[in-house]
Amino acid sequence: MSEYIVALTGASGAVYGIRLLRELLRREHTVHLVVSEAAYIVLGQEMDLHFERKPHLWREYLPGDLRVYSNKDIGARIASGSYITAGMIVIPCTMATISGLACGSSGNLTERAADVMMKEKRKLIVIPRETPLNSIHLKNMLALSEMGVHIIPAMPAFYHKPQSIEDMVDFIVSKALDALGIENSLYNRYSGQE
Ligand SMILES: Cc1cc2nc3c(=O)[nH]c(=O)nc-3n(C[C@H](O)[C@H](O)[C@H](O)COP(=O)(O)O)c2cc1C
Repeated sequence: MSEYIVALTGASGAVYGIRLLRELLRREHTVHLVVSEAAYIVLGQEMDLHFERKPHLWREYLPGDLRVYSNKDIGARIASGSYITAGMIVIPCTMATISGLACGSSGNLTERAADVMMKEKRKLIVIPRETPLNSIHLKNMLALSEMGVHIIPAMPAFYHKPQSIEDMVDFIVSKALDALGIENSLYNRYSGQE
């Protein structure tokens, strides 16, 4: 089994992060979870989850090998390149965090752990969520893409004929798992015109 870092930031779409966490833990991977202060606000508003400073609630809600960190915990093991993981995913990812990653600020644990991924040439996947996008957002995403970061916008498709919000969420989570190299069949993949 592998170890992954998952960061939830304060963009709309907390459900994407929760769904990805369930999929990783169900496959018995170890997950190091970093949650920003803004992400806790969104988790409360969108999913009625009020888990700030309550790691035991996270572990009850998401069974498996889940280790929860504050975004301020800059001394955590995942802040160091000497701690090896199979990849990191920021889901959903705000434009604020995209900006921090693009300029290498390392001002909190999410930004530092992601910076480590980039400097060590490990897998880093971000799932940005904002609309419309301004030129700063676009330039920051281009800078990340040029450094090898996978950019998978939270942009659901309709060709697989989603029947529910869950189906639309699964489409994005499936793309994230694909980028991590984790086999999955969360949605009906396109198989050509009949
Ligand atoms: C309910 C709510 C929804 C938000 N949605 C978004 C969003 O979709 N995209 C985004 O870039 N910022 C969004 N924000 C703003 C970010 O949360 C804010 O910029 C925050 O400082 C980001 O911090 P973080 O990246 O450390 O989580 C939202 C804020 C709130 C309270």
